[in-house]
Amino acid sequence: MTTAVASGAFPFLAEGGLGAEGLYIGRDVHAEASFCFDPFALYGRIEGFTNPNILLAGVIGQGKSALAKSFALRSIAFGYRVYVPCDPKAEWTPVAEALGGKSIALGPGLPGRLNPLDAAPRPASVPEADWAGEIRKRRLLLLSSLARTVLGRDLVPMEHTALDVALDAVVARTADSRTPLLGEVAAALASPHTLDEGTTSGHLGDAARDLAHAMRRLVHGDLAGLFDAPSTVRFDPTAPILTIDLSRLSSSGDDTALVLAMTCASAWMESALSDPDGGRRWVVYDEAWRLMTHIGLLQRMQAQWKLSRGLGIANLVVLHRLSDLLTAGDAGSQGRALAEGLLADCSTRIIYRQETDQLAAAAALLGLTSIEMDAVAHLNRGRGLWKVAGRSFVVQHLLHRDELTLFDTDARMHKTDNIAAATGEDPTNPSFTPQSREPAGGT
Ligand SMILES: Nc1ncnc2c1ncn2[C@@H]1O[C@H](COP(=O)(O)OP(=O)(O)OP(=O)(O)O)[C@@H](O)[C@H]1O
Ligand SMILES: [Mg+2]
Repeated sequence: MTTAVASGAFPFLAEGGLGAEGLYIGRDVHAEASFCFDPFALYGRIEGFTNPNILLAGVIGQGKSALAKSFALRSIAFGYRVYVPCDPKAEWTPVAEALGGKSIALGPGLPGRLNPLDAAPRPASVPEADWAGEIRKRRLLLLSSLARTVLGRDLVPMEHTALDVALDAVVARTADSRTPLLGEVAAALASPHTLDEGTTSGHLGDAARDLAHAMRRLVHGDLAGLFDAPSTVRFDPTAPILTIDLSRLSSSGDDTALVLAMTCASAWMESALSDPDGGRRWVVYDEAWRLMTHIGLLQRMQAQWKLSRGLGIANLVVLHRLSDLLTAGDAGSQGRALAEGLLADCSTRIIYRQETDQLAAAAALLGLTSIEMDAVAHLNRGRGLWKVAGRSFVVQHLLHRDELTLFDTDARMHKTDNIAAATGEDPTNPSFTPQSREPAGGT
């Protein structure tokens, strides 16, 4: 047996830098060894590894989504569950189907509806009264981040009060068993009478005028109906993978609609993830660079991440450039602080190729050495610099041929040679059986 075959057959013996526990990712390029990774296994085992979250950045088409999908697929074998709250390219749907999970498609003309104000089931360990407070807090956070996104500015204190009062009025009016709807909150905001009844300060009606218009967009605008009706799907906590396909919304060209939909969809999904006995879970934010400019979303995301730490949830956020983090605001601004907080909340950073003009920004943000910077500039597809709590690896992500077929987002990728290169198979080996060899031609 050659060394190459032996290390393939016994990956647990050819120990990589982080040990052989967890998901097999591929080859540690420098150590010529298998590279395995499991954020839960590393937690508390190596110094400085304070959270299971992962940041993954790289230019278009480098295999970021493929790596995220491998994480998902391979960790199912370990009993982990996977949640993708916003899939703007519908590329996770085949993965969900192949793994026996579910994908919910939302968009104009589709039957799916999600009510983002759905209350999460109460975990057994939390008293009833505390839980009611928690749900109220989450709903307010969602409402204010939706309003913030539409208005494009921070809410003023009176607007926060108006949201508070409107939500309470709606909850008080709806029967016990029913969840309030966004449309009802919007109606309450547009009714000065309701608002002034609920407060002693008066004049909330005037202050809430902008808010009422902002909410109208969710109820009557391009997202009409989608998030303003009782949910048509129930969250199934036993499904191995659940994804929300927003591709029908992303084609409209207006990012705000997509961002609002992402906010609602992730709020709906995240509230269902609050069961501490739900086991280990991944939440994958593919294409998260679209969110970075929206402070309302960042705020919600950060609050959710703080909660997820205790729940056994690892978040994986996918960006193009690290400078996407900087688009959240100028140095010293609230947006920038939020984005930097998000980075600090990721003990694992995986850097795929960056544009040359982006290298300095990446190096500054991550504290890369010049050698690491040089490595990042020369990475090819599927190969990344992994910074795990300060340790550094260059890892080639290896795909099984079935994964390659399933994860394909690129029509040019059907050549056998590419499959062989990606899976590490040797096409000259007689035991190699090409399944999809195409006639030579073209290139
Ligand atoms: N490790 C790998 N080896 C070989 N091919 C790969 C590897 N990773 C990804 N690919 C192929 O490269 C193509 C692009 O990958 P992917 O969609 O994951 O890129 P991406 O970085 O997510 O791009 P985008 O920024 O556009 O979302 C896919 O067709 C995939 O099959
Ligand atoms: Mg992708």
